[in-house]
Amino acid sequence: MAQPQTDAMLLEGVRAICHCLDRAEDRRGYETDWRGRRFGHALGVALPATVEEVSRLVAYCAEHRIAIVAQGGNTGLCAGAVPIRDGGGRQLILSLRRMNRIRRIDPLTDSLIAEAGALLQEVQHAADGAGRLFPLSLGAEGSCTIGGNIATNAGGNAVLRYGNMRDLVLGLEVVLPSGEIWHGLRSLRKDNTGYDLKQLFIGSEGTLGIVTAAALKLFPPLRQVDTALLALPSCAAALNLLKALQTREDLPLTAFELIGEQSVRLVCEQFPDRSFPLASDHPAYVLIEAGWTGHHRSDAFEQCLARVWDDCGVADAVVAKSDAQAAALWFWRESITEAQLRAGPHLKHDISLPIAAIPEFVDQMDAALHSKFPGLRIVNFGHMGDGNLHYNLNAAPGVTAEKLQAWQPEIERLIYEEVAARHGSFSAEHGIGQTKVGDLARYRSAVELNLMSAVKNSLDPEGLFNPGKVIGLRPFDKACGDES
Ligand code: FAD
Ligand code: MLT
Ligand code: ZN
Repeated sequence: MAQPQTDAMLLEGVRAICHCLDRAEDRRGYETDWRGRRFGHALGVALPATVEEVSRLVAYCAEHRIAIVAQGGNTGLCAGAVPIRDGGGRQLILSLRRMNRIRRIDPLTDSLIAEAGALLQEVQHAADGAGRLFPLSLGAEGSCTIGGNIATNAGGNAVLRYGNMRDLVLGLEVVLPSGEIWHGLRSLRKDNTGYDLKQLFIGSEGTLGIVTAAALKLFPPLRQVDTALLALPSCAAALNLLKALQTREDLPLTAFELIGEQSVRLVCEQFPDRSFPLASDHPAYVLIEAGWTGHHRSDAFEQCLARVWDDCGVADAVVAKSDAQAAALWFWRESITEAQLRAGPHLKHDISLPIAAIPEFVDQMDAALHSKFPGLRIVNFGHMGDGNLHYNLNAAPGVTAEKLQAWQPEIERLIYEEVAARHGSFSAEHGIGQTKVGDLARYRSAVELNLMSAVKNSLDPEGLFNPGKVIGLRPFDKACGDES
C-alpha cells in the first residue's frame, strides 16, 4: 500500500519540477483575492518557467490528487484565482508570472504570440512598438496578465469597437488536466476544422485547462485619439447621446463609459488631491473616446460633439488637448474601483442589459434601493456603450459592514431578478469565480448547467482544476454560497 504523503514530501516533488514558494509570508499575497475578502490556504505557489514544466507539474499533481489554482495577476474580482477555504483538499497555486515572454510579433499577419504571464500592458506596448494596436484595455492593465484576460474573457473599455477577449484570440497553447499539451497556437483568421476548441478555454476561469500562451489579433494603430468628459442630466440622456454618436459615420467611437454622480463624489473623497474638471453635481457623466486610423479633419471630434450637444441635453464638457489631459480624464473613470475599496464595505454587480433598457432599469432600481435601504450609495458606472454597468453600492457613513452583509441577499435578489426580467446577465465581464457560483445555478437553465457539467466532467473528471469555481465543488451544489 502506498504511504500517505506529507505536505513537505509533496512540496519536494513540486520543487523538483519548478521554483516554488512555501513560506506563509511568501504565499500570503497569492492566497488573498484583490478585494481582500477571500483567503484560501495553498500548499505552495509553483512558478513554472516553461510549458513543459507546467505539463510535468500538472501530471504530478494529478498523480497525487493535488488541486491546481491557476493565477495570473490576481486582479480578478470574483476570487477565482485564490484557493477556496473549505472543501478544496490540497490546493497548489500555479502562478504563470514567470512565463511572460512575447514569443513573436508578426505585423504582416497582424498577430502576436504572448505567454500567459505577460502583463496586458506589456502586450499593448509590444504591439505599439511594432506599429500595431492590441486594443484590450482595462483599469488593471498594469497588473493583469494575458492568461487571466483569456481565462475571464475580459471586456473593458474598448469592447464597443473591438469586442472582448474572445474576439481577440486566434489560437491557444493549453495544458490539460491530464498534463497533455494542446498546441493550438495558430494565427489563422479562418479555420473550420471541427469544434473551435480555443473558445472552450476562453472564459473557463482555470477550470478546464491552464493557458500557457496565446496568439492574439493586432489592429492598425490609431493615428489620433480624442477624449472628452461630458456632463448630462440623466442616464436617458446618456443613451440618446450614445445613439446620436453611433449614427455619425465620421466618429469612430472606441469608448463610451458612464460615470454616475456618486462615482465621481466617491473618487473626489478618496483622492482629495485631484480636482474634478466639471461641477460634480450632474446626475450623469460620460467619458467618450474616438480613435482615427486614417486622415480626418483635426476638429472632427469637437464638430461632432457640437452637432449633438443641444439635442442630447449636454450640460457641460471638457475635451482633452493632450495625452496628459486625456489620462487625467480617464483617472476619473479608472479610479472608481480603487475608491470603492478604500471607502470600505461595498457590493459589486457587474451586469449587462440590452442597451435600450438601461435608463429605465437605473431609475427603477435607484428608487427601489433608496426606499428600502436608506444609507446606500449607488456607485453606478461602466461600459455603457456595450450595455455593461457596474451597478455597485457602497455603505454610507452609519451603515456598518455587518448591516450591508445582512442586506446583501435581498439587494442582490432585487437587482438580479430585475436584470433577468429584462433578459440581461448578472455577470457581464468578471466571470463567476467563487463568489457567483450560486447565481450561475439560479440564473442559467438546466440544459445549460448540464452542458457545462458535461464539459467539466469530460475534461477534468477528478475536479482538480480550480475546485469550487464556476460550477461549484460538485457541479451546481451551491456549496460556495453567493456574494457580490
Ligand atoms: P487572475 O485574477 O489571476 O485570475 C482570474 C481567473 O483566471 C481565475 O479563475 C484564475 O484561476 C484564471 N486564470 C488566470 N490565469 C490563467 C491561466 N493562465 N490559465 C487558466 N486560468 C487562468 N475586468 C474586465 O473584464 N473589465 C474591466 O474593465 C476590468 N477592470 C478592472 C479594474 C480594476 C481596478 C481591477 C482590480 C480589476 C478589473 N477587472 C476588469 C478584473 C480583472 O482585471 C480581469 O478579470 C483580468 O482579466 C484578470 O486577469 P489576472 O491576470 O489578474 O487574472
Ligand atoms: C471597471 O470597469 O472599472 C471594473 O470592471 C469595475 C468594477 O470594479 O466593478
Ligand atoms: Zn468593467
